[in-house]
Amino acid sequence: MTTSILVTGGTGTLGRPVAQRLRDAGASVTVLSRHRRDTADGVQYTAGDLSTGEGIEAATRGAEVIVHCAGSSKGDEEKTRTLVSAARDARHIVLVSVVGADRVPQVSAIDKTLFGYFGMKLATERVVEQSGIGWTTLRASQFLGLIWTVARALAKFPVVPVPAGRFQPVEVTEVAERMAELALGEPSGLVPDMAGPTIYPAAELISSYLSAVGKRRPLLPVPLPGQAARAVRAGAVVAPDRAVGKRTWEEFLAARV
Ligand SMILES: NC(=O)c1ccc[n+]([C@@H]2O[C@H](COP(=O)([O-])OP(=O)(O)OC[C@H]3O[C@@H](n4cnc5c(N)ncnc54)[C@H](OP(=O)(O)O)[C@@H]3O)[C@@H](O)[C@H]2O)c1
Repeated sequence: MTTSILVTGGTGTLGRPVAQRLRDAGASVTVLSRHRRDTADGVQYTAGDLSTGEGIEAATRGAEVIVHCAGSSKGDEEKTRTLVSAARDARHIVLVSVVGADRVPQVSAIDKTLFGYFGMKLATERVVEQSGIGWTTLRASQFLGLIWTVARALAKFPVVPVPAGRFQPVEVTEVAERMAELALGEPSGLVPDMAGPTIYPAAELISSYLSAVGKRRPLLPVPLPGQAARAVRAGAVVAPDRAVGKRTWEEFLAARV
């Protein structure tokens, strides 16, 4: 029988290729996001807002599996609570979280201001674990496209501020492939992390971006305060043992410019 799958955030960077892969695998796929889309690609689109709860009961009705890719920099814990309380028919929820969610301390206001995203993702994981629905969580490292976006924004400054830290960016379509595979399997709990093939200091990512786009800028190392920043400098958001991604930053840059 065809499995009915709801992909939250299925119009986003990760959710879109997840929805496409599940459709290609023969699932009946519905995408939830705040903005309605035309149903033209074999995927159903439904509008709903996880922040207000509007449309969420209807979107989750009949969904056996939920792939939860809707996320932003704030409020994911509450949005996920809204989702799981509405999801009465679901037997499996697959969540994407972030590498280091449990390794970036959230002790001070500075930690929460600079790196509160990691605390939010950990709290979101807990909501899923305690939902009563079978669950699978995949922690992925930063997508290559996100590094590009951040580098481009920083490169607008005449002197480019570079916070110390190491990153291991991963190709989003590879993460999508894995998310789809997990959604088609059984609930598996916290599965091994997924990170890209290479670990780079932040300064190296920025300078290779600048060379690729033909800009010359001096870099200014910025020592960020707090325990979270210290953890990031020490490698909390990389997973050297889980360098399973294939596409490198250099390949991504070559294709982009
Ligand atoms: N980007 C990364 O490097 C990275 C790395 C690891 C993990 N992750 C996680 O992966 C997930 C997806 O990231 P992404 O980069 O694909 O994000 P994205 O491109 O910003 O997509 C977010 C999606 O969520 C939907 N959405 C946002 N707010 C919503 C709401 N209140 N109700 C319903 N839908 C909502 C958006 O559609 P509408 O705007 O139309 O609502 C969109 O489809 C997030 O949970 C993120 O934390 C990201």
